[in-house]
Amino acid sequence: MKKIMTVFGTRPEAIKMAPLVLELQKQKENFQVSVVVTAQHREMLDQVLELFQIKPNYDLNIMQQGQSLSQITSRALLGLEKIIQEEQPDLVLVHGDTSTTFAAALAAFYQKIPVGHVEAGLRTGDIYSPYPEEVNRLLTTRLASLNFAPTTVAEANLLQEHVDPASIFVTGNTVIDALLATVEQAFDLNKIPGLEQLDFQQKKVILVTAHRRENWGAPMDSIFAAIRRISISYPEVEIVLPMHKNPLVRAQVYQHLQGLANVSLIEPLDYQPFVQLMAASYLLLTDSGGMQEEAPALGKPVLVLRATTERPEALAAGTVRLVGSDEEAIVAATKELLDDENAYSAMAKAENPYGDGTASKQIAAILHASKF
Ligand code: UD1
Ligand code: UDP
Repeated sequence: MKKIMTVFGTRPEAIKMAPLVLELQKQKENFQVSVVVTAQHREMLDQVLELFQIKPNYDLNIMQQGQSLSQITSRALLGLEKIIQEEQPDLVLVHGDTSTTFAAALAAFYQKIPVGHVEAGLRTGDIYSPYPEEVNRLLTTRLASLNFAPTTVAEANLLQEHVDPASIFVTGNTVIDALLATVEQAFDLNKIPGLEQLDFQQKKVILVTAHRRENWGAPMDSIFAAIRRISISYPEVEIVLPMHKNPLVRAQVYQHLQGLANVSLIEPLDYQPFVQLMAASYLLLTDSGGMQEEAPALGKPVLVLRATTERPEALAAGTVRLVGSDEEAIVAATKELLDDENAYSAMAKAENPYGDGTASKQIAAILHASKF
């Protein structure tokens, strides 16, 4: 029997850890699982916990409005110290690249508890893009004893950094486990507050999300100015933007996009309606990491509002294209996909480089078989 402590704090970590937590909990004869949430996010985390019916054993409740990176990291680190001391797990499992991820790996290391890193090996090669995630990943890799790489590209990144090959396992990404478990459940999109009148049968819908720290300020001004221009040039197209809870992001959204008839600014959606909304959309514009993995599986073209991506597999699959934050580039790429059927169908193909939905099962089997 192995004592596994899982630690996560934000919406995407919760979505991608949920299938693994459920799998480990199912294997009662092999694992004793505890769930610790830092609650770096509050509402956006709780939405996911509720959907997957996961009840945390510990909730550090660290979120503060407008929190700084040092505040997140230090509050998580201090809170986790006590819990890890009390629980004495055999392994701490973290996910991805948030400040919670790094703080949890560091807290475990300080008590000489081995760390398992889910979604290990993603890299852009630029420490400021995404910021601070690229460095969170690099530092977490230095602290981890088990690395669950979603793809062979991620594995190669780790090998290049001289990570012990015996510690690396290519498993696919657990996001596909979450997606496949969710996408089959139908949802009436007109039940979403703010979208009651949207005719999903007749209208082309562009789904937009944005939140990245390196885009705050001028890049986001340029991104939202581009979306404003698209909304005015294409009154027949509907733009839906579920807004991140961050007040800084919201202020910029409102400044550019309030009051446009074909732009719906709505609250963050629960994962299930959000997946249905992606599936019902014509095109996605986003700076999200997770959506670059989900969209190829759904066959939806994505214009990535970032200068770099750590998901080259999605680029190679052809569903994802980097457009950055330049206003002209975003407008031009969107126009092309709205006006040119061939350009659109070249991108709108379902190819899924991120796994077959068994990543959680594979990780559980590796944890069961590993010595730590
Ligand atoms: C964080 C992660 C980022 C991840 C993103 C997913 C870090 C440094 N950043 O960025 O890697 O891609 O989550 O969304 O780890 N807020 C709420 N309610 C919520 C969530 C956020 O009010 O449920 C507001 C708070 O004012 C909070 C702010 O948003 O201070 C920013 O949240 P934070 O976790 O610091 O950064 P994100 O941009 O969400
Ligand atoms: N998502 C969601 N509701 C929303 C917007 C996004 O459930 O309103 C999901 C999305 O499907 C993906 C994840 O949240 O799985 C992405 O989260 P985010 O963009 O906040 O973080 P990132 O992936 O960039 O780290």
